[in-house]
Amino acid sequence: MKILFVCLGNICRSPLAEAIFNHLAAQAGRANEFIVDSCGTGGWHAGEPPDPRTRAVAQQHGVALKRRARQFQRTDFNDFDLIVAMDRENVSDLLSFSTLKPEHRAKVKLLREFDPQADGNLDVPDPWYGGPDGFERVYQMIERSAKELLDSIPRP
Ligand code: 4NP
Repeated sequence: MKILFVCLGNICRSPLAEAIFNHLAAQAGRANEFIVDSCGTGGWHAGEPPDPRTRAVAQQHGVALKRRARQFQRTDFNDFDLIVAMDRENVSDLLSFSTLKPEHRAKVKLLREFDPQADGNLDVPDPWYGGPDGFERVYQMIERSAKELLDSIPRP
């Protein structure tokens, strides 16, 4: 199964989601079931490594960040089975492609649909403007949600 995590810049939230999902899948002995990637709806940071604060929180938790930022492209709708957005703005950006087929729309989910503690708040907040606390909070939110997402996908 191919899963794409999407945020705005692909330097804070979605690289963490990619790394955490990979980590949890490996822990569950399921690494070989998934191809995981991430990208941003915007291209401003394309080619850059994750934000230093993203790298710090990933290192504290022992999860590996592997790639540089890239922008979402239309072909991702064909290439991935599941497209998991960090917030509702990302979803509306993804769905704004005018000629989107229903089967492509159906692939788009919000990560916090899987958060048992979401309490009606479906956005992973953008930690870009805040301090390290925000990155730790986002890490915990993504980890809880990614675990439920993984458990929701049946083993082959
Ligand atoms: P991300 O965070 O979408 O979680 O990667 C952001 C990174 C950069 C910007 C916005 C959000 N920016 O405006 O440059």
